[in-house]
Amino acid sequence: MCIKLNPFTVALNNALTDKGPGQPEIETLLGAKGRQIPQLFAAADRARRRGVGDTVHLRAIIEFSNHCRKNCLYCGLRRDNKTLPRYRLPVEEIMDAAGRAAGLGYRTVVLQSGEDPYFSAADIARLVEQIKARHDLAVTLSLGERRREAYRIWREAGADRYLLKQETSDPALFGYLKPDDSLQERLQCLWWLRELGYQTGSGNMVGLPGQTTATLARDIALMRELDVEMAGIGPFLPHQDTPLRDTAPGKLEATLVTLAVARLCLPRAHLPATTALSTLAPQGHSLALGCGANVIMPNLTPSRVRDKYLIYPQKADIGDDPVQAKKDIEALLAGLARPPATDYGHARKIPSGRN
Ligand code: 5AD
Ligand code: SF4
Repeated sequence: MCIKLNPFTVALNNALTDKGPGQPEIETLLGAKGRQIPQLFAAADRARRRGVGDTVHLRAIIEFSNHCRKNCLYCGLRRDNKTLPRYRLPVEEIMDAAGRAAGLGYRTVVLQSGEDPYFSAADIARLVEQIKARHDLAVTLSLGERRREAYRIWREAGADRYLLKQETSDPALFGYLKPDDSLQERLQCLWWLRELGYQTGSGNMVGLPGQTTATLARDIALMRELDVEMAGIGPFLPHQDTPLRDTAPGKLEATLVTLAVARLCLPRAHLPATTALSTLAPQGHSLALGCGANVIMPNLTPSRVRDKYLIYPQKADIGDDPVQAKKDIEALLAGLARPPATDYGHARKIPSGRN
């Protein structure tokens, strides 16, 4: 007797093999409905445990400038948003925030900003050097697109990782949403970062206008081709001071499904429970940790400017006191039996091997 398995079950079984799912199977998994969703989440949770273990890496983020020369349609930091008060933290204040992160026991700081040419490549290199000299911290940079030479000197200064999200793998949608950029140039930057030996992070937004399941499948396939060590997957959230103010937000379930499928395709990558997801749903962190995520990024930006890094409205981490936030995260992790990691949380990927 021949039993015909449904395509979802076949795709899920294939996802758990060494080769992982192909793009059509990724699309099938992304279409999970009803009872398939808890099955998908359970498979992603198992893949997470096998690939990266139970610990959760905590990466302290410092948003040191909200100036941006670009005009992405979805983002509150876009240059045409004249309603946003802009700030740049002086170097001493960035160093203080890094010191606070180290003092609280974090092992990574993420330095993030809009694309702000005010800070020269040499300024950033000095900052990285100072942090590495004073503290036992891994440094992740998230400063957008720069020349290869800038990436090179930052790497030489000691930067360990770089986050540069692809946002979407659809070239036409990318060009529409990011009128200053092209997908091709962005991918070039990602390949340079790889070549220079950074642990490289990409990621996307779920629920962008015009995005389809096929787009999301391609997003995940592209992250796998890029062989990323990190991938940030969060919902699109409309901001009232951007051209996309009237667009519907991304959905919680669709974001979790995308995260779960990404985990199946990138078993050894570090996947954060994004702040955007917690902004959409108060249980965002624990839901994401249950279907593939293994990273949380607490905000260590000084409180005097925290509410000005408004890429989307009602950002969940605004107003947190860093000491209390750490306690809250530890309590959340204790409840989930997911211990906070004590190491740097470098990617466990074998150099140049598959994720
Ligand atoms: N909704 C969700 N995420 C956003 N980002 C920017 N604007 C939004 C938005 N409206 C994310 C992008 C980008 C980072 C700066 O924040 O993924 O990489
Ligand atoms: Fe600037 Fe990045 Fe926002 Fe685009 S997404 S406007 S590059 S901060």
